[in-house]
Amino acid sequence: MEKMPYTPEMDAAAVMLQTVTPTESIVTTDWRTGLPVLTGTRVTLREMRVSDAPSLFAMLSTEEVARFISPPPTTVEGFERFIMWANRERAAGNYACFAIVPHGMDTAIGIFQVRQLEPGWGTAEWGFAIGSPFWGTGAFSDGAKLVLDFAFETIGVHRLEARAAVQNARGNAALRKLGAVQEGVLRRSFLRNGQYLDQALWAILDEDWQMGLSIPVPKVH
Ligand SMILES: CC(C)(COP(=O)(O)OP(=O)(O)OC[C@H]1O[C@@H](n2cnc3c(N)ncnc32)[C@H](O)[C@@H]1OP(=O)(O)O)[C@@H](O)C(=O)NCCC(=O)NCCS
Repeated sequence: MEKMPYTPEMDAAAVMLQTVTPTESIVTTDWRTGLPVLTGTRVTLREMRVSDAPSLFAMLSTEEVARFISPPPTTVEGFERFIMWANRERAAGNYACFAIVPHGMDTAIGIFQVRQLEPGWGTAEWGFAIGSPFWGTGAFSDGAKLVLDFAFETIGVHRLEARAAVQNARGNAALRKLGAVQEGVLRRSFLRNGQYLDQALWAILDEDWQMGLSIPVPKVH
């Protein structure tokens, strides 16, 4: 999503005192108490940990990644606060943010996030950002399938929207190839670097997903 729901202003100092519970060992049917670990052919999606802050800062703060999305935190500490905020919002049932970890690595190379746009999650929005060394590697398609399954089957989303700046050719192509439908253009809806940008509005419905969208499954070499 172009507008990440997190902004540093939301982050009250008291929140920083919260501890973040590692989740891999948690076996739960309720994602609000800890996100499940989702395993694909190339990547694992898991809850973000505070220790992911340095790698996420390195991966997501570059100009090419951040160009068309809301400005990410500008320091490692800022990412730590974002991760703690994300855990709190997950516990409140409003938001889920997965770290993307390629098989054979421990570090997070990007994120998928989903947030409710209305109480009850009937309509939700998702977004994603991956460090540019991992663009075109299949990490996106593999992780997207996992997070779409999670949104439609675990959370029970009916309509999943995404917004992408019209100039973001790669982001729009990524959504198109998943089978998302472009429903229109939100004119001058996204303020970035002092300029209002047009955004494409994309959506996937639960019935589309149940019919089986054709997400290419990356080959493992
Ligand atoms: C969006 C993002 C997660 C996608 O991951 P990715 O690994 O780049 O995605 P993929 O390579 O699987 O798919 C991108 C597609 O765009 C295509 N593409 C790349 N540049 C393009 C261009 N200039 N015009 C049209 N299509 C383009 C690629 O060919 C690819 O399609 P293909 O797999 O059919 O060849 C990643 O690019 C990213 O993090 N970008 C920065 C953050 C961002 O913009 N997030 C999206 C907000 S909606």
